[in-house]
Parts: sequence; C-alpha cells; structure tokens
Amino acid sequence: MKSLFMTTVAALALGTAAASAQTVGFAQIGSESGWRAAETTITKQQADERGIDLKFSDAQQKQENQIAAIRSFIAQGVDAILLAPVVATGWDSVLEEAKDAEIPVVLLDRQVDSDDDLYLTAVGSDLVHEGEVAGQWLVDAVDDKDCRVVELQGTTGSSPAIDRKTGFENAIKGHDNIEIVRSQTGDFTRAQGKEVMESFLQAENGGKDICALYAHNDDMAVGAIQAIKEAGLKPGEDILVVSIDAVPDIFQAMANGEANATVELTPNMAGPAFDALKTYWDSGEAPEKFIQTESKLYTASDDPKGQYEARKGLGY
Ligand code: AHR
Repeated sequence: MKSLFMTTVAALALGTAAASAQTVGFAQIGSESGWRAAETTITKQQADERGIDLKFSDAQQKQENQIAAIRSFIAQGVDAILLAPVVATGWDSVLEEAKDAEIPVVLLDRQVDSDDDLYLTAVGSDLVHEGEVAGQWLVDAVDDKDCRVVELQGTTGSSPAIDRKTGFENAIKGHDNIEIVRSQTGDFTRAQGKEVMESFLQAENGGKDICALYAHNDDMAVGAIQAIKEAGLKPGEDILVVSIDAVPDIFQAMANGEANATVELTPNMAGPAFDALKTYWDSGEAPEKFIQTESKLYTASDDPKGQYEARKGLGY
C-alpha cells in the first residue's frame, strides 16, 4: 500500500515537473565550422542540464529555412526562441510575428539590423573588437616592415563578416606599411578557405608577395594553411596567419608553427542566454540588450598544445 502511495506521489511530482518544463526552439544556421558544431553541442548540453526541452532546427546556411523554423516554433507555442542569424538583414517580419505571439527571441553570436525591441537580448562578442584585436596583433608582429595582407571574409552579409572586416581595418589604419591586397569570402568553411587561398596564391606570385593572411574564422585559416603548404610555402613563417574562434585545430596548427594568432569566441552562448531567459520567465525582468562575451587573443606563447588538449573534447 505504502509503495503504491509513494509511486503515485512520485508520478504526480514528475508530471508536475514535466508540465512546467520550458520549451525553447533553436534556429541554428547549420554546421559550416568547427565553432558552429561546438555551439550546437553546448546549447544541447546546457538545455539538458536545465531541464529545458530544446527543439533544434538546422537551416543549412539558408535564411529562408531559419524563418520557416521560427514560424514553426511560434505555431508550436514555444516559451522562447534562440536565433543565430545567418545574415544581418531581413528579419523584421518574423521577429514581429514572434513578438505578437509574446515569445521572447534571444540572438546568439550574430547581430541583426532590426529594431532592438523585436528581440529580448543578444548574446555575443563585440565583433568589431575581435577584428581590432586580430589587426593589432599583426601591427605589432610586423612592426614597420611592409606587409601585403590577404583576407578571407566570412559569409557575405553576416554581421561577423562585416564587423570583423571593419575592426581589422580600424587596427591597421595609419600603418601605411600594411595593406589588404585581396579580400574575398570563404563563407566560413574550411573547403572554401582553401579554394580561395589557392586563387590568392596564384595571383600573388605563388604566394611570395603575401606577408599575412587574415581569416574571419579558424576553419578558413586551416583550409588556407593547407593551400599554403601545397604551394610549397611555410604557413606561420613565409605567410603569417591570424584568425578568429580559438578552435582546437588552430591550436594544433599553432603548436606545429603553422599559425600565429587567434581571437577566442566562446561557443557557450546558450549558458548566458538561458540564464537571462530564466530571470525573464521567473520575474518578468528583461536583461540588457547585449550580453557580451570575452575576446581573448592567443598566440604561440600561450601553450597551444595544452589549449588543444583542453578543447578537443568540447564538441568542435
Ligand atoms: O558567428 C560566429 C561565426 O560563425 C564563427 O566565428 C564562425 O566560425 C561561425 O561560422
């Protein structure tokens, strides 16, 4: 009798917990980079740890798929939506639909050009600052030596591509010895990073006229490093390599002397996002519009082998 009573109480308790679990839709971009894969893994882990029911959608790099996913989350009546917006423009209508449905939207890692009252908050780094940190590293590394730079941009129209370019240009401004001689998108992927770097090498005297590569993410840098090696040059020496993200593979390259510097972008955007949502759900208190993560510079003097070991199991 007692055990039946206990079982019933436990079942009721579980039922209550299940009924109160929050449901969050995550409109993810895709899996273009190691960093993106880690963000997806960590978001799922963070949701599990907090008992949040996460509905995940992979948009395969297409804005229309993200918009369709958001509409589907709205129709399902989720408690919140996480959006990593592939590009910066074109979100007004769907964000208005979420707002009309009283569903808070949190932006992850990229920005939109919509009015900020259409979303609850944005979690991410200062993307212009990231570019500035990368550019300042190069300014210090080359000193007054002439340096012709090639740039691999991220996805066209995405806020990190726009802002990381601006930041780097800010940093090299006034240093007339440093010049960006070629700049093209590699869409944040390793494959396109390699392909575009091959064309840069060909156009620049087999790479002999290139002093440095600035890549808007590590994956493109890793692809480009392969292209530089295939062209018979030494990445990290003949061509300096600076990029952004701090994924394990760039630390491996750094440990091998084939990359020089990276600026860290934490893939744990979901932790601060879920914290902000909990406060909002519990008390109605809205967070600040921008929750900023750190942008730390890593170079060969920061124990790249150790950094690789520490990060390699984190879902990158
Ligand atoms: O928005 C963040 C960027 O998107 C990361 O730097 C890049 O690796 C990813 O694809």
